[in-house]
Amino acid sequence: MIYADNAATTKMSDAAVQTFTSLLGDTYGNPSSLYEFGQKAKEVLEQARRDVAESIGARPNEIIFTSGGSEADNQAILSAAKMGAGKGKKHIISTAFEHHAVLHTLNKLKKEGFEVTLLDVHENGLVTAEQVEEAIREDTCLVTIMYVNNEIGTVQPIKEIGEVCRKHNVTFHTDAVQAVGHIRVNVEEDNIDMLSASGHKFHGPKGVGFLYVKKGVRIFNLIEGGAQEKGRRAGTENVPGIASMAMALKESVENLDNYKTKLTPIRDKIINGLSEIPHSALNGDANSRVPSNINFCFEGIEGESLLLLLDDKGIAASSGSACTSGSLDPSHVLLAIGRVHDVAHGSLRLSLGEDITDEEADYIISSVKEVVGYLRGFSPVWRDLMSGKKEFIL
Ligand SMILES: Cc1ncc(COP(=O)(O)O)c(C=O)c1O
Repeated sequence: MIYADNAATTKMSDAAVQTFTSLLGDTYGNPSSLYEFGQKAKEVLEQARRDVAESIGARPNEIIFTSGGSEADNQAILSAAKMGAGKGKKHIISTAFEHHAVLHTLNKLKKEGFEVTLLDVHENGLVTAEQVEEAIREDTCLVTIMYVNNEIGTVQPIKEIGEVCRKHNVTFHTDAVQAVGHIRVNVEEDNIDMLSASGHKFHGPKGVGFLYVKKGVRIFNLIEGGAQEKGRRAGTENVPGIASMAMALKESVENLDNYKTKLTPIRDKIINGLSEIPHSALNGDANSRVPSNINFCFEGIEGESLLLLLDDKGIAASSGSACTSGSLDPSHVLLAIGRVHDVAHGSLRLSLGEDITDEEADYIISSVKEVVGYLRGFSPVWRDLMSGKKEFIL
């Protein structure tokens, strides 16, 4: 089996599993307790906080542990909105291809009277700092733009966007769930005020993530209760999960150069191989993308059938984000970069893991070619395209 769906989730690393399981035993104290059991757990928690902070160039007290990326996105956006509303600023800037954790939160705010500008995404899957600057108004309280898109893997010019936000004194949040552990991220150099990340995207456990909040930026609780996380997130901390996530992140960040060096040529080999399929197109910029991501549209086929047949061949892939698979709507990300419905339906996302081999890359290329050809063989849409009844778009 070739697992090529690492953007959906990753396998926990051996060290992350080891850290997790070792903490299920004797270190069961509550980190808020003052006696030794509690303090032992607290030490583990605070070491994890230091490690996580170091991996993104932050200070430990700027890290809030959460249940994952969705919670971190919600907390960041709702906090900035609340702060903004207090000052009469109710305008937010984002993009049309954010994850639903961001888009749905923004929809909620719209119902509460916020105005949201969703920037158009260029057909290469990128937005620019100039677009952000043009959209900023006197009443803008937040810019929230993802670092790396989860479907097409494009890397946004976050540093430049952050610079524009600093210049105009607007809070800048980035959903970096697909960036942290995959490319180098430094919150200081990138001018980021708030950043969301999730453990299970970089070989840590599920159900744990973190929110970076720059010193001086106000944050409000989503979850009321005890005074954990300095009163910023109530609930007894998931010590094994947090320590295991920190271990996975430390490993991933130490390994970033190897990751890039190994995966980039394999990614490009698969991109070149799949480009040979007639009436196909790569989604997202060929260069400004994470080393693991390949996303294609093939005209005249349904992505869902493609996935099932690839599964039969032992390849686990995706047609979009896992959260929306199961819905027959085409991906909002592909629509945002200008793919029409028919074309967006025939999409394939491969997100590689570092253990992929050259032979497996060859096998992926030949399997996708074979399956696309097979599906086109009995596709009514393909027949119409071939007979000229319909015009090719790709
Ligand atoms: C870009 C992005 N943001 C947020 C999330 C949500 O993260 P979590 O599953 O940890 O809630 C995901 C997960 O797919 C994602 O890819």
